[in-house]
Amino acid sequence: MKNSIFIIFIFHSLVFIKCDNFQTVTYAEKRFEPNWDSLDSRRIPNWYDESKIGIFIHWGVFSVPSFGSEWFWDDWKSNASDYVKYMEKNFPKGFSYQEFAKDFTAELFDPQKWANLFKKAGAKYVVLTSKHHEGFTLWPSKYSFSWNAKDIGPHRDIVGDLSKAVRGAGLTFGLYHSLYEWFNPMYLSDKASHFESKEFVTKKIIPEMEELIENYKPSVLWSDGDWEAKDSYWNSTQFLAWLYNDSPVKDTVVVNDRWGIDTPCKHGDFYTCSDRFDPGVLVKHKWENAMTLDTKSWGFRRDAPLEDYLTTQELLETLARTVSCGGNILINVGPTKEGIIAPIFEERLLELGQWLNINGEAIYESTPWIYQNDSLTSDVWFTTKSNSVYAIVLDWPTNNILKLRTVKQLFVDHNPCIVLLGNSGKLDWKFLSELDVQIVFPDKSKVKSERAWVLKITK
Ligand SMILES: *[C@@H]1O[C@H](CO)[C@@H](O)[C@H](O)[C@H]1NC(C)=O
Ligand SMILES: *[C@@H]1O[C@H](CO)[C@@H](O)[C@H](O)[C@H]1NC(C)=O
Ligand SMILES: *[C@@H]1O[C@H](CO)[C@@H](O)[C@H](O)[C@H]1NC(C)=O
Repeated sequence: MKNSIFIIFIFHSLVFIKCDNFQTVTYAEKRFEPNWDSLDSRRIPNWYDESKIGIFIHWGVFSVPSFGSEWFWDDWKSNASDYVKYMEKNFPKGFSYQEFAKDFTAELFDPQKWANLFKKAGAKYVVLTSKHHEGFTLWPSKYSFSWNAKDIGPHRDIVGDLSKAVRGAGLTFGLYHSLYEWFNPMYLSDKASHFESKEFVTKKIIPEMEELIENYKPSVLWSDGDWEAKDSYWNSTQFLAWLYNDSPVKDTVVVNDRWGIDTPCKHGDFYTCSDRFDPGVLVKHKWENAMTLDTKSWGFRRDAPLEDYLTTQELLETLARTVSCGGNILINVGPTKEGIIAPIFEERLLELGQWLNINGEAIYESTPWIYQNDSLTSDVWFTTKSNSVYAIVLDWPTNNILKLRTVKQLFVDHNPCIVLLGNSGKLDWKFLSELDVQIVFPDKSKVKSERAWVLKITK
């Protein structure tokens, strides 16, 4: 007895020492160089792929006019007629966009409420626009004098307050950050030099990103507004080498792919490619479908009709397709200037959460299977985890009989156990032909899940 305890003790300490050494080796010796080959060799931290579902929040001064989209300022100044007419009709001549900021009141902003909603929705991370293309920072930045949420409008540190609430709810916190600013004179002057000068990057963008990282330690840095200049202008590789080697978030942070002309879909921990990227086929590199519940805008639009919002059914379809193809989904909501998340968003998110309470097993920590969707029946998408394959069925099968082809290999020489998540009892199945399998669904009125159903097939 004594001996065996002693042996177990030694065994444990050996394993422990070994693990410890291993970690030290991987983290201490690997330094990243400021070039894409080196940066692209980084392994993305596991938390990101396992999480699958995030919430994107577009909030800023554009939430005050709340008209058209978050591109309001740029559309207006480009003389887009709807915007020019709107301003002429409702505001005095000479009214400037900056004057909207004082009405960004946020008096009903309750970060705890937001965090609870996102948690109930089943999201695992939250990404807030710390600064959109208008340049207004939602934190008291040293580099954005009088054009930030502490000095004007909300008079609070939105980034800090939301980060605490989100983390308090057990979710991971991330930040969106726009590199370019439409009307920043320093940027426009660099642009006029064809980006020969880099004053804007040196004096504003790099210091401000470092300030964000050091003060708020986000686990996602979601870069945007990169597309007018090369990554060399933005100092992207130098910045990322610092972020990966020496920043306080070097072991946890993930970044997207928008770091200059030619970087999207090529570099970064995860790809976003274009907005609402949703390829419907497996993508080998980790990617994210950043999409909106209001299909036409990221910022809140008072003029959005119901038909422009995704239904819960459409949201679940997008989720299934995205996760089956190796993506994460980042679901955007646009709060109002008062700090309200409108009930239309709330309803969609709560219904998603209810679905995930039953079916989340097929989503979180899953990986893509060898096939993504069934070749006989459309709208059936697969994921896998340990020795189960999950089939997410988006249409209830006619006469309760589902026919599948792609899963056949799970049935040949096996008698797999098939259950419908949320329901007890095994489902019957049989071969229909050489190629096809049929699975008998239960009576729909007795089934717990709504809108989409998940078969768990265990060999
Ligand atoms: C928009 O119209 C104004 C007034 O006519 C003009 O001064 C300005 O240059 C126009 N801007 C653009 C981007 O066309
Ligand atoms: C940008 O990168 C260059 C090297 O290419 C470096 O000399 C400079 O200090 C960097 N600027 C900032 C603000 O990091
Ligand atoms: C699903 O699978 C079929 C057959 O393998 C394929 O042709 C189709 O493009 C896939 N994608 C969708 C979205 O149906």
